[in-house]
Amino acid sequence: MLTKSPRGTKDILPSEVYKWQYIEKKIAELCNNFGYSEIRLPVFEHTELFQRGVGDTTDIVQKEMYTFLDKSERSITLRPEGTAGVVRSYIENGMASLPQPIKLFYNITAYRYEKVQKGRYREFHQFGIEAFGAAGPTIDVEIISMINTFFSELGIGDVSLNINSIGCPKCRAEYNDKLIKYLTPNLNSLCHTCNSRFERNPLRIIDCKEETCKKVTVDAPSLTDNICEECSIHFDGLKDGLANLGISYKVDKNIVRGLDYYTKTVFEFVSDNIGAQGTVCGGGRYDGLIEACGGAPTPGIGFAIGIERLILVMESQGIEFPKSEGIDIFVATIGKKAEKYAQKLIYKLRKEGLSAQMDLMDRSLKAQMKYANKLGACYSIVLGDNEIDTNKAFLKNMDSGEQKEINLDTVIDRLKNIDI
Ligand code: HAM
Repeated sequence: MLTKSPRGTKDILPSEVYKWQYIEKKIAELCNNFGYSEIRLPVFEHTELFQRGVGDTTDIVQKEMYTFLDKSERSITLRPEGTAGVVRSYIENGMASLPQPIKLFYNITAYRYEKVQKGRYREFHQFGIEAFGAAGPTIDVEIISMINTFFSELGIGDVSLNINSIGCPKCRAEYNDKLIKYLTPNLNSLCHTCNSRFERNPLRIIDCKEETCKKVTVDAPSLTDNICEECSIHFDGLKDGLANLGISYKVDKNIVRGLDYYTKTVFEFVSDNIGAQGTVCGGGRYDGLIEACGGAPTPGIGFAIGIERLILVMESQGIEFPKSEGIDIFVATIGKKAEKYAQKLIYKLRKEGLSAQMDLMDRSLKAQMKYANKLGACYSIVLGDNEIDTNKAFLKNMDSGEQKEINLDTVIDRLKNIDI
């Protein structure tokens, strides 16, 4: 136990972290281009926020949250997603009084006690955005075009976009009546959880993964076919906008999404190449959430991309992650005097923005040169008593083997002027 990370968690080791750094850099560029500012929030929140925000009939709240009492007996939950926390912060920090829309992005870890499998973990990473204040479909189109741009920037080609409209509270109330009528004769065939959902949130039953429930709901009336005129106009606006940008999509009436806050637009980007957990990105509009969490009525929309799944997709397509390899110079030393000199020299080199290393393990000169090769050093220099006394040493190009005698005072200038 002591030397094993908890199930569903993963270390991101130095040999992998460059992939993450590359993606994070692309995220920062993308968000800058689309006008989103970064927000950083606590890993844990009051449990009530997720019960209210994500919805207490969802799988996430009913089965998957990491919830505990803190030492003051407050119920605390590790965030299972990012939206609820951003909404809390929007209200708490009075962002409604700033020019709208407020456009925020985040790179977070999230926690769900789920069955672990490829692409599904208990601690995972999300890049997400939330936009508050804009009600029309133009922003729906904008954020979908943002995801498209992101995928194409990363060279990803095989993810498909599925969209749906799940209506507003008005049309959903009418639809719920129809659904309840349809489900009532089949209550005995529904799982225990769905029986508890029947009264409070029958729509959630449509999303249940249990085979018995799926059999019952396969012929259930579709919400999409029962949305009101306003929602229908919004959905048409979304489809028009996507067509205008040449973004292809499929309408998938089965998308309900696993969180309760959605209204009108919902969408997912799915890959067929990474196994059962193929949804790389999920999102949608949540026009009632801010009010439900205690703010003034404010429309909102957002999405989140799972970074682990994104990397799986990129790897499945053989996409290369650029890697910054190697160091500028390795300073090898013979003797204590040289070691002291070298430490000062590499201190100066590093201050000048060059990457420099020296031996810290009392290696022989031969072993130091082997290590310099392993580090991918572009240049090396060997310092001994003689070099320090004469103030001269040989700067060696590690690739070509070519050596040039230089004045030690000029090392920094020379390295800065070589296009390494
Ligand atoms: P979500 O669909 O629950 O939506 O999660 C978004 C993405 O996070 C998924 O498409 C998937 O890539 C990744 N993900 C979810 N659970 C796991 C897991 N257990 N292991 C690995 N990856 C996972 C949300 O979280 C919403 N907050 C998105 C949103 C933002 N909607 C509006 N604004």
